[in-house]
Amino acid sequence: MNILGIETSCDETAAAVVKDGRTILSNVVVSSLREHSKYGGIIPEIASRRQLACITAVVDEALRRAGSDEHRLQAIAVTGFPGLIGSLLVGKSFARAYAARLAKPLYEIDHIQAHLYANFLRESGDRTPAPKLPGIGLVVSGGHTSLYHVRDPRHFRLIGRTRDDAAGEAFDKVARVLELGYPGGPAIEKKAGEAKKSAIKFTCARMPDTLDFSFSGIKTAVLYHKREHAAGGEYPVAEVAHAFQDSVTENLADKALDACQKYRCRTLLVGGGVAANKSLRHKLIDRGRIGGINVHFPPMPLCLDNAAMIAGLAMHHQ
Ligand code: KG4
Ligand code: ZN
Repeated sequence: MNILGIETSCDETAAAVVKDGRTILSNVVVSSLREHSKYGGIIPEIASRRQLACITAVVDEALRRAGSDEHRLQAIAVTGFPGLIGSLLVGKSFARAYAARLAKPLYEIDHIQAHLYANFLRESGDRTPAPKLPGIGLVVSGGHTSLYHVRDPRHFRLIGRTRDDAAGEAFDKVARVLELGYPGGPAIEKKAGEAKKSAIKFTCARMPDTLDFSFSGIKTAVLYHKREHAAGGEYPVAEVAHAFQDSVTENLADKALDACQKYRCRTLLVGGGVAANKSLRHKLIDRGRIGGINVHFPPMPLCLDNAAMIAGLAMHHQ
């Protein structure tokens, strides 16, 4: 069963064809990220204009690469929520008209749940078994930081979330303070790699009685640290980036593994842009191994926004 997925929730225009909810036949992603970088964040007007300009070509290319005729598709899936409203509208309007013309069903998919579902996708020929459910899902993206209990691909229950900034948002804001550019996550990771260890320490709010997160305090702590120490000459940007990254990834790992323990789950699914961060990956894998928890990350390109995760999850909505 082939499903066409369309994703336009942020700066990407993406389309993919996925077979049986699992095998990626094509996965096309076009991003307008570079056009936003000089503004230090996504400009919604630019994003939706670019999406309008290229969505037809992106969908055609996804079908061409999959070697699939549009009449052989079983259904169309599109990101329904959450995202930038103008960007979502481009994808949803396109998908609605497309599905109506082909007389195929249309499924609107939750973008956050789809980030976790990315762990179930495989390239054709890859026979790695699917993660075992039930499990815990940790979504760490630019807009969301949440924990879910995932019973099966139809049942996601929110069990924790950030009370202020998302983890990716904190990376982006701290990168701006440290003048490292946008998007901040990869820039901080690269800079942090230049410092072996850091004598500087930052801490995230622990909130031990809940699975909720808070990242606005650490962001402000970095801002004040820079104000206090930057005036006198050389500011240790790499050490600060290292200390910030270390604290955020430690906090994410703590909460995710606490959730596994609390819900007695041996599977942890991670998804979203920050899942590309190697410090987070190493911490979760090392600590998961000690605790007997199988930690799953999507391959790097599937951590970021893509339409394969939308098409894949849609199979379970039939
Ligand atoms: O999931 P995503 O592509 O878009 C949203 O749905 O938000 O995530 C983008 C976020 C950005 O905040 C970016 O700075 C962060 O993911 N990010 C990273 C890394 N790569 C991307 N954060 C930390 N380390 C990375 N390597
Ligand atoms: Zn996303």
